[in-house]
Amino acid sequence: MTSPSHSATTTSPTELPADLTLARVADLARLRPGTIRVFQRHAIDFCCGGGKSLAEAASRAGVALAPLVDEIRESIVASDGADRSTSSDRPGSWLGALPDSLADLAKLIVGRYHVALRGELPRLVKMADRVEAVHGAAMPEVLPRLTATIRALEGALVAHMREEEASVFPAIERLELAVARCEAPGSEGLAVAIAECEREHVLVGEGLREIRALTSGHVPPEWACNTFRGLYHGLAELEREVHEHVHLENNVLFPLTLQLAATGRGGARAEGAGHIVSNAKD
Ligand SMILES: [Fe+2]
Ligand SMILES: [Fe+2]
Repeated sequence: MTSPSHSATTTSPTELPADLTLARVADLARLRPGTIRVFQRHAIDFCCGGGKSLAEAASRAGVALAPLVDEIRESIVASDGADRSTSSDRPGSWLGALPDSLADLAKLIVGRYHVALRGELPRLVKMADRVEAVHGAAMPEVLPRLTATIRALEGALVAHMREEEASVFPAIERLELAVARCEAPGSEGLAVAIAECEREHVLVGEGLREIRALTSGHVPPEWACNTFRGLYHGLAELEREVHEHVHLENNVLFPLTLQLAATGRGGARAEGAGHIVSNAKD
């Protein structure tokens, strides 16, 4: 059975421009996952807002462009070296070694992110409740809003993941199977469902930005107790994980799904998926 590769689509470039300031942040993150750490370090949005060029993103984040380009180049050189030395254990390396099958990629997203989020979100809500109960009077402008924002984010993410697992991801699996069997893809409605997922990702991103603003970049006050510190640390981790998660969906899984659906609707045979594979490996 021929499986479509996640590595490229005709709508997503397979190479970066020589002038990295012109490269789209989403393409840098997709083609060179090592750059994600640089984006995270500078709070540059590489998932929902990844359509911007590096120059635009730097300006928006208030980061000097030249040093940022240097960091990006260093991360690319470092990850190329690590690839050659086959260091598959380095942190984040799996982002550059994703499965070929879109269904397998969806399963990986569920196993790696959805399961963890279902455990982590209630833990953060519980900690936020405790911190607000004990320290709410000391920070009345921050802690009640922070608790409410985390709770709202939990509700939105749980519903969003449920929909992906119940509807969107199974539809992607059916599409991939149909194309591999040279059958009609039957993917009507998938583009709308994906657009809705992307819209919800934007709302989640806004929630994370609000949390970042309320917590002054996840930095607790000096007098903070351990629960307070644990909460802020957990929120920083949550932001990092959700950004990676949304990056994989917005910049890899969904564009390749739409590409595959378009190929199927055009009456292409299963070799169409094979072309995606061979183009990606060129
Ligand atoms: Fe997801
Ligand atoms: Fe999602």
